[in-house]
Amino acid sequence: MIVLGVTGGIACYKAVELVRLLIKAEFKVRVIMTRSATEFVTPLTFQTLSGYPVATETFDLTQESEIGHINLADCADLFVVAPATANVIGKIAGGIADDLLTTVLMATQAPVLIAPAMNIHMYENPILQENLRRLRRIGYHIMEPADGYLACGYEGKGRLPDPEKIAGEVERLLKKKDLSGERLLITAGPNREPLDPVRYISNRSSGKMGYALARAAVRRGAEVALVSGPTALEPPAGARFIAVTTAADMREAVLGEYAQCTTVIMAAAVSDYHAAVVADKKMKRGEAAIELRLEPNPDILKDLGQRKDGKWLIGFAAETEDLTANAQKKLRDKNLDIVVANNVAETGSGFDGDTNIATIVDRTGATRSLPMMSKDELADRIYDHFLALKSPR
Ligand code: CTP
Repeated sequence: MIVLGVTGGIACYKAVELVRLLIKAEFKVRVIMTRSATEFVTPLTFQTLSGYPVATETFDLTQESEIGHINLADCADLFVVAPATANVIGKIAGGIADDLLTTVLMATQAPVLIAPAMNIHMYENPILQENLRRLRRIGYHIMEPADGYLACGYEGKGRLPDPEKIAGEVERLLKKKDLSGERLLITAGPNREPLDPVRYISNRSSGKMGYALARAAVRRGAEVALVSGPTALEPPAGARFIAVTTAADMREAVLGEYAQCTTVIMAAAVSDYHAAVVADKKMKRGEAAIELRLEPNPDILKDLGQRKDGKWLIGFAAETEDLTANAQKKLRDKNLDIVVANNVAETGSGFDGDTNIATIVDRTGATRSLPMMSKDELADRIYDHFLALKSPR
């Protein structure tokens, strides 16, 4: 059962289409509307489509005896709020439960998906952004609003994502716990290799792919240890988080966890080199040119591939040319099961963005090129491929 909370905004009409799509996909849907949502669309519209009475803020005692608000909270496999106004997001983040929707949401133990829709300036307001961060930290799933023409006359980010997209996200979140029993060791982000107490060399990795992999694995029932270099991201709820800085720290953390895991995914952009000499005092500026001598770091994944110990090893390959051939070479050289390759020179792929264009190659020689998709979606495709490869074994 999906419980859909509809809050008051012009995007309410898209929630109607969302219900239609969910019903078509054979989900059961019960709708809760806030009072202001009923100003935009009538409860009768949702009731007709969903086949269930719509719970509104002004519900009466008959409704409460039919399905009380706690029952409504308990029956949810997923709670979706779409569209979610700045107001309701603020209330949820602040723990306020002053109407039916926020009360049921407070009582539910189901995962929660929030699809914000509002004016661009409201969306960019630091208070709203802080509220979204808070909810993400707790493990709520927040969709990015779409870009485009807004009903308020502005152009920009704030549109409710297309109903098809929200329905796709619902299907993704309700996937079964097919990774339960897996203990995944995932690495993410860049390393920093110090030159002196204030300077370091690093790379452009944001950590987003590794964090998306960790979130998806937790959602699909795996136990997850995330070893992360420095990033600006919130540690995913439900994963054990190990923060590291240098490639040497990362190697130590990975080796320390290796015995307990079933599968390793190296999504980190491990630094290939470190400074031969790290100055213990800040290097002073001078007129003469200086040279940095860099020495290679050990290849963590290659070392794991040499031991193997019956573990499944998944690597990434950041390439700028000959994607598939280079990925296949890395797979062989490092003795891996799967390599996910992406062309970091292509728009929509690689470092820092929210999307990726990847090719998955595996040890059977199979190659699958995927279109551009969000890193969250790619994470699921990687696990689908992994499970399909693993099942005959
Ligand atoms: N990797 C690692 N240890 C390193 C370097 C890379 O474990 N010292 C892992 C990465 O996390 C990734 C895979 O190896 O999963 C491939 O990384 P990539 O940088 O694309 O390839 P390299 O092997 O470093 O080769 P090159 O930089 O020459 O492409």
